Order: sequence, then C-alpha cells, then structure tokens
Amino acid sequence: MEIIFSGIQPSGSLTLGNYLGALKNFIPFQDTAECYYCIVNQHAITMPQPSNLLHERTRNLAALYIAAGLDPKKATIFVQSEVPEHALLGWMMICSAYVGEMERMTQYKSKAQKAEKKEGFIPLGLLTYPPLMAADILLYQATLVPVGEDQTQHMEITRDLAERFNRKYGEVFTLPKMWSPEGGARVMSLQEPTSKMSKSDDNEWATIHMLDTADVIVKKIKRAVTDSLGHVHYDKENQPGVSNLMSIHAAISGKTFEEIEKMYEGQGYGVFKKDVADLVVEEMTPVLQRYEELTGSPELDEILDEGAAKAHEKAKVTYDKAIHAMGLYRK
Ligand code: TYM
Repeated sequence: MEIIFSGIQPSGSLTLGNYLGALKNFIPFQDTAECYYCIVNQHAITMPQPSNLLHERTRNLAALYIAAGLDPKKATIFVQSEVPEHALLGWMMICSAYVGEMERMTQYKSKAQKAEKKEGFIPLGLLTYPPLMAADILLYQATLVPVGEDQTQHMEITRDLAERFNRKYGEVFTLPKMWSPEGGARVMSLQEPTSKMSKSDDNEWATIHMLDTADVIVKKIKRAVTDSLGHVHYDKENQPGVSNLMSIHAAISGKTFEEIEKMYEGQGYGVFKKDVADLVVEEMTPVLQRYEELTGSPELDEILDEGAAKAHEKAKVTYDKAIHAMGLYRK
C-alpha cells in the first residue's frame, strides 16, 4: 500500500493554487492509501509570523483540510510541532546536508531576496527549510508526496538526503516519489500570469483565496489579464493568461485543453471567463460552508490530538532506526 505524506504551511490565507496543486489531490488517496497530512507550522516560522496569527491559521488550516474533504477517520491530520520527531530528525538531516546545495535551491534564493528587502535580514531557517521537509516525509517512510510543481527541487533534495543517509548509515529511509496533478500543478497569478499564484502577493487581484466569497471570485476572474488574440487556446508562451484560466478550468472540470478549446471556438473571452468563475465558485462554495461550521467546534481539537498521537506512533519507529543507525543514542 502506498504511504502518502504532504503538508501545507499556515503562513497566510490559502490560495486556489494551494487547493488545485495540493489539497484537492490529497482527498482521493485517503480511500486507497495510508495518509498523513500535516500542517507544517515549523516551516511557516522560517519567515517571521505574528504569533496570534500563526496560532489562528494553524487551527484554520486544519479546518480547511477537513472542509475540503479529508476524513480524519481515513487520514491522519496533525500539526507538525506536536510531533517532536520532525524537528529532531530535521536536525539530523540538516547535519547531513551541505551549505552549497542549500544555497543553490531556487526557492531559497527567491525567498532570501524577498526577506532581505522586506526585513533587512535572511532568516537561517530559510536555508535549512529543505532538510526539515525531508525529515517530514522520511519519518513516515512515505512512498508518494502530492505537491505542486514548485516543489520539484525540494523533492529531489529529499531523495538525495535519504540516499546519502542510507549509503552512509544503512537502509533506513524509503525514497519517496513526487506526485503532481496534470492540471493545476502550477496555478499562475491572475495579474502576472508568468509568475506563480502566491499567498503573499501584494496585488489582491492576482490571487484567489479559498475563502473568497463568490462575488469576489467572479470579480477577480473577470479582471484576470488575458491578451488581444481573442481565442481560447492553450499556449503558455504567447497566451499565458488564457492558458492559466484553461488550467484552472481543466483542474476542476476534468476536461482536456482540446475539449476546452472546442467548447469556446469562435467566442471571445467573456463566456469563457464566466464559466471559469462559475466552476471555481461551485467548487469552493461547499468547502466554505463546511469550513465555517468547523472552525469554532471542539471536534477540531479532538481530531488534531488524535492525529498527533497517531503520527507520533509512526514517526518514532523511523526516528529510532535513524538515531541507532547514526549512533546518536546512549543505551
Ligand atoms: P506551501 O504552503 O507553500 O504550499 C502548499 C502546497 O501548495 C502547492 N502550491 C501550488 N500549486 C499549484 N499552483 C500554485 N500557484 C501553488 N502554490 C502552492 C505547493 O506546491 C504545495 O504542494 N514546502 C511545502 C510545505 C511542506 C511539505 C512538506 C510538502 C513542508 N513539508 C512535506 C510536502 C511534504 C510548501 O511549499 O508549502
């Protein structure tokens, strides 16, 4: 049976990119595989976070996982900082990693640049982010990791670190594979469709948030940047805006790009945009409703307590193997 691990940072309001690239795809695995879905709050603090907001967002993200369709009876849902083996194995992974390979990570380079501009410093946690992510995955002996395309390099380094450790200390870790959806693996900004849609974009028109109201979603898609060519055609080079909207359409409707092109042949962008907006609204409305019921409920704490206990059971087996392999123990 496959073992699935994935996580999302509670570092802001989740976007349609997080949903289509990751969260939506977590759901089907729970029926066929052993699943661990984590709220990675220790990754979130690699950038400064207001403490009250981090606390609130951690709970809210758990509610959103469940609202999106994760069933705590089928999948283990938990908060990273509540299973200490993540930080413990994370340190061992940091000690197995090289400064050079960390400095070459593209996400590190872009986040470091942003942090320096915004905060005037580069948090060291940004550099050691990938070994902590490797620890997350390797602790559960995960075979498959559903993530968006932007995580390709992080997944490569996870495999490198696992291989390096196994070679040096003996077979402890399973080498995990990345799993990305066909459509939705990289949702782009609605205003600058050559950059990724992101939680932290300053332009509010660029990003659809999972908790946006129907009204706001429709307005944002209406204002999405397209081009003057006037035909719905998938061409990322020359029609990045339209191609992005087509990806969103495909990820929700399940249609191929060819099918979508045929549907809108000879029509302008108006009808197409309206349909994309309708699809997004239809997909998100029930999620939003369930989310509102869940956020204040005591049930959420029970689910997360139970999730942390189950995750801990599994994680400590691998952690024990790893410290024995490395000689990091006394008795
Ligand atoms: P985070 O919170 O930045 O992103 C969470 C997930 O959302 C995907 N994603 C996107 N997918 C498509 N289009 C987009 N515009 C878009 N933006 C974000 C990301 O690919 C990711 O799957 N490093 C992880 C968190 C993490 C993790 C892990 C993931 C920590 N440990 C272990 C898997 C396994 C991240 O980027 O989170």
